[in-house]
Amino acid sequence: MPSSKEMLIVHHSPKSPVAEAYRTLRTNIQFTALGGKVQVLLITSAGPDEGKTTTLANLGVALAQSGSRVLIVNADLRRPALHRILGRHERIGLTNVLLGTMTLEAAIQDTEVPNLYYMGSGPLPPNPSELLGSEAMVELIGRLRSLYDMVLFDCPPVVAITDAAVLAPRVDGVLLVVRAGHTERQAARQARINLQRVGARILGVVLNDVEMRSGRYGYYYYYYYRDSQREAASDSDAAHREVAATAQAPEESGEKRR
Ligand SMILES: Nc1ncnc2c1ncn2[C@@H]1O[C@H](COP(=O)(O)OP(=O)(O)OP(=O)(O)O)[C@@H](O)[C@H]1O
Ligand SMILES: [Mg+2]
Repeated sequence: MPSSKEMLIVHHSPKSPVAEAYRTLRTNIQFTALGGKVQVLLITSAGPDEGKTTTLANLGVALAQSGSRVLIVNADLRRPALHRILGRHERIGLTNVLLGTMTLEAAIQDTEVPNLYYMGSGPLPPNPSELLGSEAMVELIGRLRSLYDMVLFDCPPVVAITDAAVLAPRVDGVLLVVRAGHTERQAARQARINLQRVGARILGVVLNDVEMRSGRYGYYYYYYYRDSQREAASDSDAAHREVAATAQAPEESGEKRR
Protein backbone atom coordinates (compact mmCIF):
# COMPACT_ATOMS: atom_id res chain seq x y z
CA MET A 1 0.00 0.00 0.00
CA PRO A 2 1.41 3.42 -0.93
CA SER A 3 2.48 5.65 1.96
CA SER A 4 0.45 8.69 2.91
CA LYS A 5 3.26 10.81 1.46
CA GLU A 6 2.80 9.20 -1.92
CA MET A 7 -0.96 9.60 -1.71
CA LEU A 8 -0.98 13.27 -0.70
CA ILE A 9 1.04 14.16 -3.72
CA VAL A 10 -0.17 17.75 -4.13
CA HIS A 11 1.28 18.53 -0.71
CA HIS A 12 4.47 16.52 -0.87
CA SER A 13 5.33 16.96 -4.58
CA PRO A 14 3.64 20.20 -5.57
CA LYS A 15 5.75 20.55 -8.72
CA SER A 16 4.88 17.13 -10.12
CA PRO A 17 2.68 16.80 -13.23
CA VAL A 18 0.12 15.03 -11.07
CA ALA A 19 -0.11 17.99 -8.69
CA GLU A 20 -0.53 20.18 -11.75
CA ALA A 21 -3.42 17.98 -12.89
CA TYR A 22 -5.13 18.42 -9.52
CA ARG A 23 -4.70 22.16 -9.83
CA THR A 24 -6.38 21.94 -13.22
CA LEU A 25 -9.24 20.10 -11.56
CA ARG A 26 -9.39 22.88 -8.95
CA THR A 27 -9.51 25.52 -11.68
CA ASN A 28 -12.29 23.70 -13.48
CA ILE A 29 -14.34 23.57 -10.30
CA GLN A 30 -13.70 27.24 -9.67
CA PHE A 31 -14.93 28.02 -13.19
CA THR A 32 -17.93 25.78 -12.71
CA ALA A 33 -18.80 27.90 -9.69
CA LEU A 34 -19.50 30.77 -12.06
CA GLY A 35 -22.63 28.91 -13.14
CA GLY A 36 -24.02 28.67 -9.57
CA LYS A 37 -22.84 28.08 -6.04
CA VAL A 38 -20.27 25.29 -5.68
CA GLN A 39 -19.24 25.40 -2.04
CA VAL A 40 -20.21 21.96 -0.75
CA LEU A 41 -19.19 19.01 -2.90
CA LEU A 42 -19.40 15.28 -2.64
CA ILE A 43 -17.09 12.79 -4.30
CA THR A 44 -18.20 9.32 -5.22
CA SER A 45 -17.76 6.66 -7.90
CA ALA A 46 -19.58 3.62 -9.21
CA GLY A 47 -17.68 0.98 -7.26
CA PRO A 48 -14.96 0.43 -4.66
CA ASP A 49 -11.27 1.32 -5.03
CA GLU A 50 -11.63 3.81 -7.84
CA GLY A 51 -9.73 6.62 -6.17
CA LYS A 52 -12.47 8.70 -4.52
CA THR A 53 -10.60 9.28 -1.28
CA THR A 54 -7.28 9.97 -3.00
CA THR A 55 -8.93 12.47 -5.32
CA LEU A 56 -10.74 14.19 -2.48
CA ALA A 57 -7.63 14.58 -0.32
CA ASN A 58 -5.51 15.99 -3.13
CA LEU A 59 -8.23 18.28 -4.40
CA GLY A 60 -8.63 19.51 -0.82
CA VAL A 61 -4.92 20.34 -0.67
CA ALA A 62 -5.00 22.08 -4.06
CA LEU A 63 -7.97 24.21 -2.97
CA ALA A 64 -6.32 25.06 0.35
CA GLN A 65 -3.11 26.03 -1.45
CA SER A 66 -5.06 28.60 -3.43
CA GLY A 67 -5.98 30.31 -0.15
CA SER A 68 -9.45 28.88 0.43
CA ARG A 69 -10.42 27.63 3.87
CA VAL A 70 -11.24 24.01 3.13
CA LEU A 71 -12.82 21.23 5.17
CA ILE A 72 -12.63 17.61 4.05
CA VAL A 73 -15.10 15.28 5.72
CA ASN A 74 -15.00 11.54 5.96
CA ALA A 75 -18.62 10.76 5.12
CA ASP A 76 -17.75 7.20 4.13
CA LEU A 77 -19.19 5.63 7.26
CA ARG A 78 -18.60 2.12 5.94
CA ARG A 79 -14.98 1.99 4.80
CA PRO A 80 -13.37 5.22 6.05
CA ALA A 81 -9.86 5.81 4.71
CA LEU A 82 -9.20 9.54 4.61
CA HIS A 83 -7.56 9.50 8.03
CA ARG A 84 -4.85 7.19 6.71
CA ILE A 85 -3.83 9.62 4.00
CA LEU A 86 -3.81 12.50 6.48
CA GLY A 87 -2.36 10.60 9.43
CA ARG A 88 -5.27 11.72 11.63
CA HIS A 89 -7.93 10.04 13.80
CA GLU A 90 -11.12 8.84 12.22
CA ARG A 91 -12.79 7.91 15.50
CA ILE A 92 -13.93 11.40 16.27
CA GLY A 93 -15.91 13.40 13.78
CA LEU A 94 -19.10 13.38 11.78
CA THR A 95 -21.22 10.87 13.68
CA ASN A 96 -20.31 12.49 17.03
CA VAL A 97 -21.65 15.80 15.74
CA LEU A 98 -24.76 14.27 14.18
CA LEU A 99 -25.59 12.43 17.39
CA GLY A 100 -24.84 15.48 19.50
CA THR A 101 -22.10 13.85 21.56
CA MET A 102 -19.43 16.36 20.54
CA THR A 103 -19.32 19.98 19.49
CA LEU A 104 -18.46 20.82 15.92
CA GLU A 105 -15.28 22.59 17.04
CA ALA A 106 -14.08 19.52 18.92
CA ALA A 107 -14.80 17.23 15.98
CA ILE A 108 -12.64 19.13 13.48
CA GLN A 109 -8.88 18.61 13.35
CA ASP A 110 -6.30 20.67 11.56
CA THR A 111 -3.81 19.10 9.16
CA GLU A 112 -0.21 19.71 8.19
CA VAL A 113 -1.53 21.74 5.23
CA PRO A 114 -2.36 25.36 6.08
CA ASN A 115 -6.06 26.18 5.49
CA LEU A 116 -6.99 22.50 5.26
CA TYR A 117 -9.18 21.05 8.03
CA TYR A 118 -10.43 17.54 8.55
CA MET A 119 -13.47 15.92 10.12
CA GLY A 120 -13.23 12.17 10.63
CA SER A 121 -16.09 9.71 10.40
CA GLY A 122 -16.55 9.35 14.14
CA PRO A 123 -17.68 5.95 15.49
CA LEU A 124 -19.15 3.89 12.67
CA PRO A 125 -22.93 3.61 13.02
CA PRO A 126 -25.16 0.66 12.10
CA ASN A 127 -27.34 2.97 9.97
CA PRO A 128 -25.10 5.28 7.91
CA SER A 129 -27.69 6.30 5.32
CA GLU A 130 -30.21 7.28 7.99
CA LEU A 131 -27.65 9.51 9.66
CA LEU A 132 -26.60 11.10 6.37
CA GLY A 133 -30.26 11.67 5.51
CA SER A 134 -31.12 13.18 8.89
CA GLU A 135 -32.22 16.70 9.69
CA ALA A 136 -29.06 17.00 11.80
CA MET A 137 -27.03 16.55 8.61
CA VAL A 138 -28.90 19.38 6.88
CA GLU A 139 -28.19 21.62 9.86
CA LEU A 140 -24.55 20.62 9.92
CA ILE A 141 -24.08 21.43 6.22
CA GLY A 142 -25.64 24.84 6.88
CA ARG A 143 -23.19 25.55 9.70
CA LEU A 144 -20.21 24.38 7.67
CA ARG A 145 -21.18 26.74 4.86
CA SER A 146 -20.70 29.67 7.18
CA LEU A 147 -17.33 28.41 8.44
CA TYR A 148 -15.51 27.21 5.29
CA ASP A 149 -15.06 28.36 1.71
CA MET A 150 -15.23 24.78 0.47
CA VAL A 151 -16.45 21.56 2.06
CA LEU A 152 -15.74 18.18 0.44
CA PHE A 153 -17.48 14.97 1.52
CA ASP A 154 -15.84 11.60 0.88
CA CYS A 155 -18.57 9.03 0.18
CA PRO A 156 -18.89 5.29 -0.45
CA PRO A 157 -19.50 3.99 -3.99
CA VAL A 158 -22.92 4.92 -5.30
CA VAL A 159 -24.07 1.87 -7.26
CA ALA A 160 -24.37 -0.67 -4.42
CA ILE A 161 -24.64 1.71 -1.45
CA THR A 162 -27.26 4.41 -1.08
CA ASP A 163 -25.32 6.89 1.12
CA ALA A 164 -23.92 9.11 -1.64
CA ALA A 165 -27.35 9.37 -3.30
CA VAL A 166 -28.89 10.32 0.06
CA LEU A 167 -26.40 13.12 0.56
CA ALA A 168 -26.13 14.28 -3.06
CA PRO A 169 -29.31 16.43 -3.22
CA ARG A 170 -28.13 18.33 -0.12
CA VAL A 171 -24.83 19.49 -1.57
CA ASP A 172 -24.08 21.87 -4.43
CA GLY A 173 -22.52 19.30 -6.73
CA VAL A 174 -21.06 15.85 -7.20
CA LEU A 175 -17.77 14.75 -8.73
CA LEU A 176 -17.80 11.26 -10.13
CA VAL A 177 -14.48 9.42 -10.20
CA VAL A 178 -13.86 6.89 -12.95
CA ARG A 179 -10.73 4.74 -12.80
CA ALA A 180 -9.17 3.84 -16.13
CA GLY A 181 -9.04 0.11 -16.73
CA HIS A 182 -11.18 -0.54 -13.67
CA THR A 183 -14.59 1.11 -13.86
CA GLU A 184 -17.02 -0.73 -16.13
CA ARG A 185 -18.85 1.46 -18.59
CA GLN A 186 -22.21 0.09 -17.46
CA ALA A 187 -21.35 0.75 -13.80
CA ALA A 188 -20.39 4.34 -14.56
CA ARG A 189 -23.68 4.79 -16.38
CA GLN A 190 -25.58 3.33 -13.44
CA ALA A 191 -23.76 5.66 -11.05
CA ARG A 192 -24.91 8.62 -13.11
CA ILE A 193 -28.48 7.32 -13.22
CA ASN A 194 -28.56 6.81 -9.42
CA LEU A 195 -27.39 10.37 -8.87
CA GLN A 196 -29.66 11.96 -11.45
CA ARG A 197 -32.64 10.10 -10.03
CA VAL A 198 -32.28 12.01 -6.76
CA GLY A 199 -31.75 15.33 -8.52
CA ALA A 200 -28.00 15.59 -7.90
CA ARG A 201 -26.01 18.07 -9.91
CA ILE A 202 -23.13 16.16 -11.45
CA LEU A 203 -20.37 18.68 -12.01
CA GLY A 204 -18.03 16.41 -13.88
CA VAL A 205 -16.06 13.24 -14.09
CA VAL A 206 -12.53 12.80 -12.80
CA LEU A 207 -10.62 10.17 -14.71
CA ASN A 208 -8.16 8.53 -12.35
CA ASP A 209 -5.14 6.35 -13.04
CA VAL A 210 -4.68 7.10 -16.69
CA GLU A 211 -1.81 5.38 -18.44
CA MET A 212 0.94 7.83 -19.18
CA ARG A 213 2.92 7.71 -22.39
CA SER A 214 5.89 6.33 -20.50
CA GLY A 215 3.86 3.15 -20.17
CA ARG A 216 3.47 3.06 -16.42
CA TYR A 217 0.35 3.81 -14.51
CA GLY A 218 0.50 7.02 -12.58
CA TYR A 219 -1.63 9.37 -10.63
CA TYR A 220 -2.65 11.29 -13.66
CA TYR A 221 -5.99 12.91 -13.48
CA TYR A 222 -8.03 14.95 -15.76
CA TYR A 223 -11.39 16.40 -15.58
CA TYR A 224 -14.03 17.34 -17.99
CA TYR A 225 -17.08 19.36 -17.48
CA ARG A 226 -20.37 17.74 -18.19
CA ASP A 227 -23.45 19.07 -16.57
CA SER A 228 -25.92 16.64 -17.98
CA GLN A 229 -28.79 18.44 -16.34
CA ARG A 230 -28.36 21.56 -18.37
CA GLU A 231 -28.59 20.30 -21.90
CA ALA A 232 -29.23 23.73 -23.36
CA ALA A 233 -25.77 25.20 -23.65
CA SER A 234 -25.70 28.68 -22.26
CA ASP A 235 -22.74 30.99 -22.79
CA SER A 236 -21.32 30.03 -19.43
CA ASP A 237 -21.61 26.33 -20.27
CA ALA A 238 -19.60 26.92 -23.41
CA ALA A 239 -16.94 28.62 -21.32
CA HIS A 240 -16.79 25.64 -18.99
CA ARG A 241 -16.34 23.22 -21.84
CA GLU A 242 -13.51 25.23 -23.24
CA VAL A 243 -11.67 25.18 -19.93
CA ALA A 244 -12.38 21.50 -19.62
CA ALA A 245 -11.11 20.78 -23.09
CA THR A 246 -7.78 22.33 -22.17
CA ALA A 247 -7.58 19.99 -19.25
CA GLN A 248 -8.69 17.06 -21.30
CA ALA A 249 -5.94 16.86 -23.83
CA PRO A 250 -2.63 17.32 -22.07
CA GLU A 251 0.32 16.43 -24.33
CA GLU A 252 1.62 13.71 -22.10
CA SER A 253 -1.57 12.10 -20.92
CA GLY A 254 -1.98 9.45 -23.62
CA GLU A 255 -5.26 8.66 -22.01
CA LYS A 256 -7.01 5.39 -22.49
CA ARG A 257 -10.56 5.68 -23.69
CA ARG A 258 -12.84 2.82 -22.92
N1 LIG B 1 -4.02 6.78 -9.73
C1 LIG B 1 -3.68 5.81 -8.90
N2 LIG B 1 -2.53 5.11 -9.11
C2 LIG B 1 -2.18 4.12 -8.27
N3 LIG B 1 -2.88 3.75 -7.16
C3 LIG B 1 -4.03 4.42 -6.92
C4 LIG B 1 -4.48 5.48 -7.75
N4 LIG B 1 -5.65 5.95 -7.26
C5 LIG B 1 -5.91 5.21 -6.16
N5 LIG B 1 -4.93 4.30 -5.96
C6 LIG B 1 -4.87 3.29 -4.88
O1 LIG B 1 -6.04 2.51 -4.96
C7 LIG B 1 -6.54 2.25 -3.66
C8 LIG B 1 -7.95 2.81 -3.56
O2 LIG B 1 -7.86 4.24 -3.61
P1 LIG B 1 -8.89 5.11 -2.79
O3 LIG B 1 -8.93 4.68 -1.37
O4 LIG B 1 -8.60 6.53 -3.09
O5 LIG B 1 -10.22 4.64 -3.55
P2 LIG B 1 -11.72 4.76 -3.09
O6 LIG B 1 -12.52 4.84 -4.35
O7 LIG B 1 -11.86 5.86 -2.13
O8 LIG B 1 -11.95 3.36 -2.38
P3 LIG B 1 -13.23 2.96 -1.45
O9 LIG B 1 -14.26 2.46 -2.40
O10 LIG B 1 -12.67 1.90 -0.54
O11 LIG B 1 -13.66 4.18 -0.71
C9 LIG B 1 -5.59 2.88 -2.67
O12 LIG B 1 -4.67 1.91 -2.23
C10 LIG B 1 -4.89 3.93 -3.49
O13 LIG B 1 -3.57 4.15 -3.02
MG1 LIG C 1 -12.69 5.88 -0.21
